Amino acid sequence: MTAQLISGTEIAKQIRAEIKQEVTELKQKHNVVPGLATILVGEDPASQVYVGQKEKTSVELGLYSERHDIPVSTTEKELLALIDKLNKNPKIHGILVQLPLPKHINETRVLYAIDPRKDVDGFHPVNVGKLMIGEPDYIPCTPHGIWQLLIRSGVKIEGAEVVVVGRSNIVGKPIANILLQKHKNANATVTVCHTGTRDLAFHTKRADILIVAAGKPKAITADMVKEGVVVIDVGVNRIGKSESGKDILVGDVDFNAVKEKAKAITPVPGGVGPMTITMLMLNSVRAAKRAAGLA
Ligand SMILES: NC(=O)c1ccc[n+]([C@@H]2O[C@H](COP(=O)([O-])OP(=O)(O)OC[C@H]3O[C@@H](n4cnc5c(N)ncnc54)[C@H](OP(=O)(O)O)[C@@H]3O)[C@@H](O)[C@H]2O)c1
Repeated sequence: MTAQLISGTEIAKQIRAEIKQEVTELKQKHNVVPGLATILVGEDPASQVYVGQKEKTSVELGLYSERHDIPVSTTEKELLALIDKLNKNPKIHGILVQLPLPKHINETRVLYAIDPRKDVDGFHPVNVGKLMIGEPDYIPCTPHGIWQLLIRSGVKIEGAEVVVVGRSNIVGKPIANILLQKHKNANATVTVCHTGTRDLAFHTKRADILIVAAGKPKAITADMVKEGVVVIDVGVNRIGKSESGKDILVGDVDFNAVKEKAKAITPVPGGVGPMTITMLMLNSVRAAKRAAGLA
């Protein structure tokens, strides 16, 4: 069997068109313009690219976008003061602090300072807790994107054996939480694996849906999956440079071998990646609607 490709690029395009339409209607009918503020501390090149993509997408979809690029010498107190200002600014509905932060700034304190109503990344403990109890406001963007990939590709989630490799707070734990809720498009049996898991292949071979967020190339090989599995590869690993000097990216799954056994699989790049920013836009629009009493 050669797997069907689940294209994040295509699905993200559909969702972006829906968001753009919603933003136009919000403006026309309610005079509401969703506003997203990004904060980047320092000049890490990868973070600059991510923030640039977020700003560009906001503008393309008609959101109001405010970019705060501040020097690496910024103190925690100054950063907290900026967040406080944005928390109080009615034009801003979503605040995104690009991670990682420089070592002298306490990441937890910063994330806790964002008003949960403007926490469009979904990392504030209030939003983590709401997701855990099955009443989410803002679902973290990458797991939300994974969920949409599954739903929009017609993958049956209810009753499925889902195995998640990785237990990070930004991918593994939230996607496990989303899929085990007693809701439509969830209600799966979820197993979460990590480096303490005794026999990883024992679990991955049972999976109807395998979600891999380990950050290790070829963490999953063909002998570790069953025929007909649906594979979502979250990993982004830079394994060198092409002749033209571009980064060569691979996921966590041995794509060429696993695609011969899988029913469906996401590519890297072009799988989960394009969904993450799209879901940030969705959360920002939701935040604006909630602030205006429309959701
Ligand atoms: N496309 C996107 O938008 C997007 C977004 C976020 C992340 N990513 C990518 O997804 C990957 C994971 O990101 P993350 O932030 O979740 O990573 P992370 O915080 O480094 O967590 C990795 C998780 O994988 C587990 N793990 C690592 N190697 C393993 C192995 N051989 N067997 C079993 N478990 C293993 C670790 O276990 P322990 O807990 O025991 O250490 C940990 O829980 C990275 O490549 C990252 O770049 C992509």
